[in-house]
Amino acid sequence: MPKDLPSTGVRSKTYFSFVLTDSLEGYPTQGHAMSLQVHLDGKLVPKDEAKISVYDHGLLYGDGVFEGIRVYGGKVFLLAEHIERLYESAKAIRLQIPVDPATMTRQVEETVAANRIGDGYVRLVITRGAGSLGLDIRRTSHPQVIIIADTITMYPQEMYENGMPLVTASTIRNHPGALSPRIKSLNYLNNIMAKIEGTDAGTVEALMLNHKGEVAECTGDNIFLVKRGVLKTPPTDAGILEGITRNAVMRLARESGITVEEVSTTRHDVYVADEVFLTGTAAEIIAVTSVDGRVIGSGKPGPMTKQLGQKFKELARRGGF
Ligand SMILES: Cc1ncc(COP(=O)(O)O)c(C=O)c1O
Repeated sequence: MPKDLPSTGVRSKTYFSFVLTDSLEGYPTQGHAMSLQVHLDGKLVPKDEAKISVYDHGLLYGDGVFEGIRVYGGKVFLLAEHIERLYESAKAIRLQIPVDPATMTRQVEETVAANRIGDGYVRLVITRGAGSLGLDIRRTSHPQVIIIADTITMYPQEMYENGMPLVTASTIRNHPGALSPRIKSLNYLNNIMAKIEGTDAGTVEALMLNHKGEVAECTGDNIFLVKRGVLKTPPTDAGILEGITRNAVMRLARESGITVEEVSTTRHDVYVADEVFLTGTAAEIIAVTSVDGRVIGSGKPGPMTKQLGQKFKELARRGGF
């Protein structure tokens, strides 16, 4: 454990190991000695009592929004950015979150403290609430606010050291004219279909193109390329989730004097890049060393990937910008 971190988490398992969780958001680790407390509808309740209606439109239709947030050294990482995106996602789907952002921030921190999370993960979910067996949101009442704070199971360290392979899925990212990929909604079927293709091909992540055939992002991570010293990533109008880790990495890169470009990207650009890496709250920063059978660069995590990985680790240790 790094010396500068308080040992706050009785349930903490890893400290800045930068090994990966499952690439969407990670899976909570099971089997804690103490009973997990879940914040539900304004109150902390034991995990086993945290229940919502089977008529909830979050369950019936995937009607709701969510965030996945990291906790490092007992501090919720980039919480303001996650809260902002949550309220923006809710606004876009006309979901009125029943508490204000300041209250939500406090409730997230309370949940982390109640569960004594040192290094872990918060899942914040807002459902449309229970309604009738139809789509009409006017028949729903009382959106549910669910805050889970837990630890996460990591990917093998080996992938962080050696990089991971990727394949391109045939399932394209949601057409922005149907549902904006900038909304972090409870409806992830589009990404799950692509993830299945990756799993079938033996990879833990899959590359997704947009409706124009351009590179968008992965099923649960944003993508970056390095070409001749320039850091490149698809712009938000390529139909991506505007990742909070993505934005943090771009800022860290610019602060280090690296030129950053948000540019439309083809698969060819990915194949011939010097380096490729992915970013995400759960994934943090991980190198990609082959795509569709094409070896990327030297076939090992590249120097800029390692440099930005180190900077990100320091940022996490500091607790943010
Ligand atoms: C589709 C998708 N893209 C990108 C990301 C990465 O975003 P962030 O860095 O905010 O976790 C995620 C993870 O939430 C995601 O689900």
